Amino acid sequence: MRHSTDSTSTDSTSTDMTMDLAQSLKSHRILQKCLLTVVLLSGAFFLHIRLVYAVVVSVILNFALGDLTLKVLWKTLPRDLRGAVGLLGLRCRMWRFLRQKSTVAEDFRRVAQRHPLKRALLYEEQVWTFRDVDAYANQVAHYFAAGRNGFSAGDTVALFLMSRPEYVCLWLGLSRAGCVASLVNFNLRGEALVHSLIACQAKAIVVGLEFLEVVVEIRARLPFLPVLVVAERGRALPHSLPSGATGLDDKLIKLPVEPPVIATKTGPKDRLFYIYTSGTTGLPKAAVITNTRFFYLACGIKSMIRIFQDDVIYCTLPLYHTGGGILGVGQCLLFGSTVVIRKKFSASQFWLDCSKYNCTVAQYIGEMCRYLLVQKASTSDKAHKLRLMFGNGLKSEIWTKFQERFGVKQMGEFYGATEGNASVTNTDNTIGAVGFLSRILPSVYPVMLIRLDSATGEPLRDSKGMAIRCKPGEPGELVGRIKSTGIHTFDGYSNKDANSKKITRDVFRKGDLAFLSGDILVMDEYGYMFFRDRTGDTFRWRGENVSTAQVEAAISQIVGLEAVVVFGVEVPACEGKAGMVCLTGNVAAFDLNKLNAEMKHSLPSYARPLFLRFLTQVDQTGTFKLIKSRLKEEAFDPRKTSADALFYFDAQNDDYRPLTLDVFNQIACGSIRY
Ligand SMILES: *[C@@H]1O[C@H](CO)[C@@H](O)[C@H](O)[C@H]1NC(C)=O
Ligand SMILES: *[C@@H]1O[C@H](CO)[C@@H](O)[C@H](O)[C@H]1NC(C)=O
Ligand SMILES: *[C@@H]1O[C@H](CO)[C@@H](O)[C@H](O)[C@H]1NC(C)=O
Repeated sequence: MRHSTDSTSTDSTSTDMTMDLAQSLKSHRILQKCLLTVVLLSGAFFLHIRLVYAVVVSVILNFALGDLTLKVLWKTLPRDLRGAVGLLGLRCRMWRFLRQKSTVAEDFRRVAQRHPLKRALLYEEQVWTFRDVDAYANQVAHYFAAGRNGFSAGDTVALFLMSRPEYVCLWLGLSRAGCVASLVNFNLRGEALVHSLIACQAKAIVVGLEFLEVVVEIRARLPFLPVLVVAERGRALPHSLPSGATGLDDKLIKLPVEPPVIATKTGPKDRLFYIYTSGTTGLPKAAVITNTRFFYLACGIKSMIRIFQDDVIYCTLPLYHTGGGILGVGQCLLFGSTVVIRKKFSASQFWLDCSKYNCTVAQYIGEMCRYLLVQKASTSDKAHKLRLMFGNGLKSEIWTKFQERFGVKQMGEFYGATEGNASVTNTDNTIGAVGFLSRILPSVYPVMLIRLDSATGEPLRDSKGMAIRCKPGEPGELVGRIKSTGIHTFDGYSNKDANSKKITRDVFRKGDLAFLSGDILVMDEYGYMFFRDRTGDTFRWRGENVSTAQVEAAISQIVGLEAVVVFGVEVPACEGKAGMVCLTGNVAAFDLNKLNAEMKHSLPSYARPLFLRFLTQVDQTGTFKLIKSRLKEEAFDPRKTSADALFYFDAQNDDYRPLTLDVFNQIACGSIRY
């Protein structure tokens, strides 16, 4: 079903609209109640039914409807029913998974035995059948099994290689051996990489030949960490590897392809791997993904937007994040779909690949859709069989344009945090919505929007200390209930301290716990939810969450003692927010080229600020929070930043250049692109 609201409405206009709606609704409701009563009473009169029955029925109906209008009921009932079916399917599968005390690796083995010769993973010209994946995973399991090569059950092994089928087999095999993989973002360098390896207490790192140098560079910091090197299938490792590095490929080949017998059995609650998220402060944090959580996430998206076993899914998202590594690959491992892995997203190859591999489903992030749209129109645009794309961050202003140009019937936008406990899905292609909550029975699904104190960013409380549910049109933070038993548990981060900031109390009922998503959403009268903003100290750029504290720390180290403030700013026609840094100090004495060069060393490309501002006056009176919000507000607009020197990153020349009013206008109208 296509929800036919004004499709051109962007985020802000649609919320203005909902605001107006909320006000006019009240009068509507009174009108509706009167009407309902009149209809029932006159019906009773003509049908010769006792008046008193009619009165009772009308009172009950009016009461049951509460503040819902019949129109809302009518429009959302089919959607809610379909949602309920999806949720029920999820519950059943989940229940079975838990009852069988299964794990992802065991479920995969069952799938692989059902159709060993079906194509599981496709990559470039390689075809990996389910049997191939199983065999490679088993060889990995033999290598890491307790007592063989110095590993023991429960050890963490970091993976640091580009997306390819071996990546999946490696963590699957590690899990089979009783170890836990740590999926390190391969964009990390230097200190952030060291930190990630220490945070998960890695006992070894498996590195792709393509990144061997990166790891060798940080070896001095972790001299005892064994480095195991793998090459791509069909390529050989060089004869001499740097000291401390061991080739893994020749060792694996000699091992049996049947699963090893493992003494300690792993179960659904055991850790499967770690995924890094930027959390709210500081360096990347390892979020724990248990087998249950993996199953829940992959099965959730399957059940809600309906992905089937004969679907071929095109996955260009990195495998170290939830999107590619769980939601995409999970469809293959748990449910037998075929997944096409691509090393890196390429806008020019996207549709060609989709038709080459006969894909029926593809994954996206909003940025990707925009890149695809700016490509020249071509005959390949519609020469594919995609019926569904799923992902997040698709803006409403390009949604329709995208679907019309490429002929994709459904965009399955969803919202969900890797470590979090609140997810929603757009199941009916409603333009711009990240998902919905039932208006009829909101309490069925333990997620809601709560009001925040605009000054502190903390949840507002009523007189009894309870959080306050937002009405339609009121922006609020998305929260999800945490149940300590069953499937609604919060696995949280591997590091215990990281948890507390994301949890709050007394939300759904007294004494309960809820997960704070850190995102502001707004709901319309039908319960569709629209993304507004992120709270806290991260911003999203190029599909990655960037922690301002991490960037601040890295830049402070480069520039010495100067005060450094980092935040995200909106750039016209770009998804997410670009990084901007404000520094105190003298521009004349500052070497921008050196800063640029050193940032390349310590920060991944998406975290490097695009805008620089040198503060001549530092206002010492306000709180830090106020100063930051003023700087954010002024952003990189030269008309607002008084005499401060402003710079922007010129990607073509790879340096920082003065940001004049002229440049500002070019950025605003999109002729300087990011
Ligand atoms: C795609 O489908 C066509 C026709 O159905 C078939 O001939 C072709 O082999 C398929 N390609 C792949 C990679 O499966
Ligand atoms: C970034 O954070 C948002 C909200 O917490 C989450 O939905 C998303 O999956 C995260 N993305 C990455 C790449 O960590
Ligand atoms: C909370 O997390 C658990 C898994 O850790 C999940 O099963 C549950 O459904 C989540 N709650 C919501 C509302 O998504």
